[in-house]
Amino acid sequence: MDYSTLITSINNNIFTVVINRPEKLNALNSIVLSELEHAIEEIYTNPFIKSAIITGTGSKAFVAGADISELSNLTKTEAIKLSKRVQDIFLKIENSGKPIIAAVNGFALGGGCELAMACHFRIASENARFGQPEVNLGIIPGYGGTQRLTKLIGKGRAIELLISGIMIDASTALQYGLVNYLVPEESLMNKAISILSVINSKAPIAISQCIRSVNAVEDNSINGYVIENIAFGESFDTADRKEGTLAFIEKRMPKFTGK
Ligand code: COA
Repeated sequence: MDYSTLITSINNNIFTVVINRPEKLNALNSIVLSELEHAIEEIYTNPFIKSAIITGTGSKAFVAGADISELSNLTKTEAIKLSKRVQDIFLKIENSGKPIIAAVNGFALGGGCELAMACHFRIASENARFGQPEVNLGIIPGYGGTQRLTKLIGKGRAIELLISGIMIDASTALQYGLVNYLVPEESLMNKAISILSVINSKAPIAISQCIRSVNAVEDNSINGYVIENIAFGESFDTADRKEGTLAFIEKRMPKFTGK
């Protein structure tokens, strides 16, 4: 599919989505959001895609936030509608059975930090900066940021970042557990690809059931142990389970088919 604000490619079953509005530091305007929604749909439906990386063009920004020029004229009703729409798009990332990771290459602010947090995990380059500066604009994060930041780094640190608007550097993000790895700028994509190459060699149904079970931790309406129990059963009802256990017994590498 051709996008005007995204550059996408598939290599070795890894789908790379590059947000490409460098002149506005890859800010999320309505076109980027619609195209991102399509790209996520591609991840869900394209059988050649096993996992995905979201990153931003250039070395300056991952995504510098929602497009402030589009926010400035919204009414309260429109703001609530926008927030719900983007919350739903980001929930689709979080609930994807195929892993989606963020390669954070510069500013990840506001909606950019929220996008990175919706991904299953994050890798940062040394020049990455994270923050929720909405308070500087007299607003609050509306794309899931208050919830995910608190879950990822804890209440005290989250409240401090949310109400001060300060940015943290990549090493602080690593210390806070916001990112899994901190790598030199030039190694960022290679690191993301090498981690996903390992993940892509595993059984896809088992991967999706792990993600489903972990996400259940955060859903107060369900018991995560019940979901894990069901997901465990789902993983047993697969050809890949037979292959994985047989390969171990036969002392060879498994060949998973996703069935
Ligand atoms: N929305 C719209 N445009 C944005 C943007 C955003 N979130 N972030 C950056 N831009 C635009 C700037 O307006 C500028 O455009 P212009 O050249 O047409 O004036 C361009 O991107 C470059 O940004 P600039 O501010 O000149 O770069 P900088 O290096 O001086 O500062 C930041 C970088 C990230 C610190 C600064 O751009 C910034 O604070 N951005 C807003 C971050 C924010 O509040 N995000 C949350 C939004 S809810």
